Parts: sequence; structure tokens; C-alpha cells
Amino acid sequence: MERIYIGVGDLQLTREDKDAVNKVLDSNRLSYGPVSKEFEREFAKFHDSKFAIFTNSGTSSLHIALAALKEKYNWESGDEVIVPAVTFIATSNVVLHNNMMPVFVDVEENTFNIDPQKIEEAITSKTRAIIPVHLLGLPADMDPILKIAKKYNLHVIEDSAETMFAKYKGKTVGSFGDIGCFSTYIAHYIVTGVGGLNTTSDPQIATMLRSLMNHGRDSIYISIDDDNIDDEEKFKEVISKRFKFVTLGHSFRSTEIEAALGLSQLKRKDQIITRRKYVAARYLKGLEDLSEHLQFQQTPLDRENVYMLFGIVLKDGDKTELINYLEENNIETRDLLPLLNQPVYKRIFGDKENDYPVAKKLNRSGFYIGCHQYLSDEDIDYVINKFHQFFKR
Ligand SMILES: Cc1ncc(COP(=O)(O)O)c(C=O)c1O
Repeated sequence: MERIYIGVGDLQLTREDKDAVNKVLDSNRLSYGPVSKEFEREFAKFHDSKFAIFTNSGTSSLHIALAALKEKYNWESGDEVIVPAVTFIATSNVVLHNNMMPVFVDVEENTFNIDPQKIEEAITSKTRAIIPVHLLGLPADMDPILKIAKKYNLHVIEDSAETMFAKYKGKTVGSFGDIGCFSTYIAHYIVTGVGGLNTTSDPQIATMLRSLMNHGRDSIYISIDDDNIDDEEKFKEVISKRFKFVTLGHSFRSTEIEAALGLSQLKRKDQIITRRKYVAARYLKGLEDLSEHLQFQQTPLDRENVYMLFGIVLKDGDKTELINYLEENNIETRDLLPLLNQPVYKRIFGDKENDYPVAKKLNRSGFYIGCHQYLSDEDIDYVINKFHQFFKR
């Protein structure tokens, strides 16, 4: 009998995925080209956006999103950016790497997303942007966030690394703010090994992002096709500008291989999302009777949860025993994205956890397990049984 293992993610590439990669290899074209362009076009379409830009990671996408806005609006180093007090560390790291200052706001107890009611009290004369995070597959409460942003003239970058395709009040994540940021790293919805995407509908921002990820190059020349033009005047212009660097950029490019994997998996996005929702629904039903011990991420009626991961908070006691029990039984867990108690943040910001009571509770008692499309009904039942066995002991 095959050993049951419930990982937080899994990957089973199909024949089509492998054929798509082989087609790229046969073409002898790895640098940004037709496959990447098609992946970007399709991805933008699914996120109600005019443009998508494919980079080498979600973190790179976040980094250049903030860099582009900082440049466009002449923000100063030391200006502030609001981020949730519970998120993957990259959300706030990119603020520091852009020489800006993250200002943390506590999260909602039921959704684990940034609490819009606590944003206004964190705004100062230096605040320039908010980065709401759509955590674990659930969109943040965008209406009040956008309302506050408008009132205080702030810009919005959505960190959607954990949420793809999901709708909030009928509109898709990645289309609410100035820029959306996604990840295609391992255990995500679409897995390309490494990879990230920006979405935007602002052509000027799209051009800046494209430049920033390409060493700050003049965006007239981004791929080797760009000097392949008949118009003589245009050709001369490209020649004169193709080695000009106009912004302080990075080398954040991806290749046609990752794009081929992304494009191929995009074709089965509906199956991926449907199965993830099914796994979560079965977990919720099967664990319902343990609600005196366990709290789950709640999904408000106005939005869709696409469940990258299944978040759980232990209501009573120390979670260590439960975590160890699950791990011993081949159910992989991770802490629920604790941020403020990370050694590096304690060093930079001091001990701030007490100012964020919900985050503190999640840091202590929250964790997540896998909720991915490769889990069988037998796997799901196994997980449900193990939780019951633990609480029966
Ligand atoms: C909320 C959040 N932001 C950013 C990232 C960074 O993405 P990547 O690992 O592709 O750099 C992740 C990673 O999963 C994430 O969960």
C-alpha cells in the first residue's frame, strides 16, 4: 500500500506540460519570447487587467511594483507603506529593500486578512501605499481599503501571491489596486518552479515594470525581436536606445520554459480551483464537530476563497502537541505566516507583538495544512480522522 503523505503542496506535471517544455527546447529560444507573451496575455485576461508582466518570483514582482510607484510618484526613502501584521515575510521585506518603512496593521480574527478598520489609525503624513495581502486564497476586504486609499491619496499594491483567479464582489484579484503581484512558486495554483507576475491596467506602469525587471533598460528594446522592424526611422531609434538604461533596475527575468509550464497549467485552472474548493469544503464539513477546539478561516459571502492552503487556529492550549501529532502522521504543517516575532524583525523593529493582539494569537496558535488539487478523497478522510483521533486522546 502506498504511504499516505499530505504535503502543503504537490506537483504532478502532465504529458501536455512536458510537451510544452519540449517544444520550447526544440525552438532553441529560451529568452523572453512568444510563449512568455502568450502566458502574460492569458494571465492578464483572467485577472481583469490589461497587462501582465512575468518575472522570476512573486517577491521580484512585489519589489518592482513598489519601485515603480516610488519612482512614478517621487516618494522619498523613509516614506511608509502599510502591510498586514500576518503575511509571508516577502510582503514587508520588499518595503525595506526599497528603502521605505513598513507599518504593520493587525488582521481580522475571522479572515486572517488586514483589518480595514485599523488602517486609518496607522496613517501618517508619510504614508504612501497600502499592500493588502489576499491570504491563503481569500481576497482581502477591498472596498473599505480602496475607500481609505482614496481618502488619503494612497496607492494600493495587492499581494496576491497566495490567491489567483478569485473574485471579490464579482471582480478578480489583481485588478483592484495600481498593481497586483502573484507567485508561481512551488505549492501555488500554477507552478513553474520559480516565477511571479504583475498585473496592471496602466500602460505607463506596465512599461516601468518591464524596464525595472530588465536592468532598467529603455523598454523600446526588451526582447531580441524588438529590432526586427521594417520601418527605417523606427529601426534607427531602436538601435540608438537599445543599450540605454533609464531606471535603476534588476535582473528579474524568467524564461520561455517557465512560461510554457505556466501557460499549459493555465488551461486547467478551473479544475485546479474546483478541486481545491472541494477539498476545503470536505475538511470544513468533516471537522465541523471539532469547532470547540478549532477555528478556520471564514469566507464572507461577498468573495470567493480558492484555498491555496487551509488555515486553522487551535482555540485552546499550546499547538505544539497537535502539530507534532499531525507531522508524525505524515500531515505536513506550517505556522500561519507569523511575521512580527521573526528573529530578523525582532532585531529590526524590536518586540512589537503585543501591539497586534490578533496577529499575536495567530502567531501562537495558527497553522495551515495542504488543500491542493492532488489530494484524494481518501487523503481528505485520513486528515479528518487524524484530527478526531487527536482530540479523542
Ligand atoms: C503573501 C506572499 N507574498 C509573497 C510571496 C513570495 O513569492 P515567491 O516565493 O514567488 O517569491 C509569497 C510566497 O508564497 C507569499 O505567500
